[in-house]
Amino acid sequence: MNFQGQTILITGGAHGIGKSIVQSFLSLNAKVITLDIDPIEKTLFDHHENLESIKLDLSSTEKIEDFCLSIKDKKIDTFIGNAGILSYKNIDNFSHQDAHQIFDVNLLGHLKLIQNLKTNIAQSNSKKIILLSSINAQFGAPGSILYNMTKASIESAVKSLCVDLADQQITVNGIAPGFIKTRMSVLADGTDEFENNDFKEIYLKQKKLPIGRHGEPQDIANVAVFLASPLANYINGQIINVDGGVTSTF
Ligand SMILES: NC(=O)c1ccc[n+]([C@@H]2O[C@H](COP(=O)([O-])OP(=O)(O)OC[C@H]3O[C@@H](n4cnc5c(N)ncnc54)[C@H](O)[C@@H]3O)[C@@H](O)[C@H]2O)c1
Repeated sequence: MNFQGQTILITGGAHGIGKSIVQSFLSLNAKVITLDIDPIEKTLFDHHENLESIKLDLSSTEKIEDFCLSIKDKKIDTFIGNAGILSYKNIDNFSHQDAHQIFDVNLLGHLKLIQNLKTNIAQSNSKKIILLSSINAQFGAPGSILYNMTKASIESAVKSLCVDLADQQITVNGIAPGFIKTRMSVLADGTDEFENNDFKEIYLKQKKLPIGRHGEPQDIANVAVFLASPLANYINGQIINVDGGVTSTF
């Protein structure tokens, strides 16, 4: 697989899954632009001369518009909406401000980018959009209603966008990760989700997670690379669960 000559734009490339995606595309000779609220240390990456990192808060419509203006006329082969925040606010204690913040970052910031950049994507040969959902979109994951709702909205957006952007031959797909080891796999009480007794008992011992281990960011990056490649040219409007089989046991 070689992405030479292609530009990949990804949100949330500074940590976790996004960082692995950045590393994967750089190693396959792509030019990568990351948008992240956190600074990214370019020199940590091999082939970092092909990496452009821009500090941007996805909850700022103004900053998104400024960025889009700055890359007007440049082609983008694949846009990957990966940045996300988790909230353990539940039905008893969430505020409208909490809801606005998480919807702005996880969903609306990405939609705004797509709205402004669809022409840049349509100019490319590849013409692909990939959005990060979560298996939490698909079942009643306890104690994180706002997060779950943002991800269900992402899955709905994948379906609508695949239809609405068809005229421009842009394909749109989603990846729904299961249990992936990143800083997001920290529970509300600050403990590591995978050291938790419930995880060990239910998911490992009782085999509710058939593959028998949590995933690594690279497991998701591999699927992002596949979806961005010509091998996936006929996949459109799909959500691919990358979850070690856990949703099959629900
Ligand atoms: N880790 C998992 O188990 C898991 C499971 C399902 C889905 N996901 C999804 O995968 C994606 C990546 O998550 P991760 O686990 O790597 O988490 P992470 O916290 O390690 O990475 C999230 C990235 O988003 C960036 N970000 C956060 N707020 C931002 C903002 N306002 N503007 C711009 N960038 C911002 C962060 O700086 C970070 O680089 C997310 O969309 C997440 O919902 C993760």
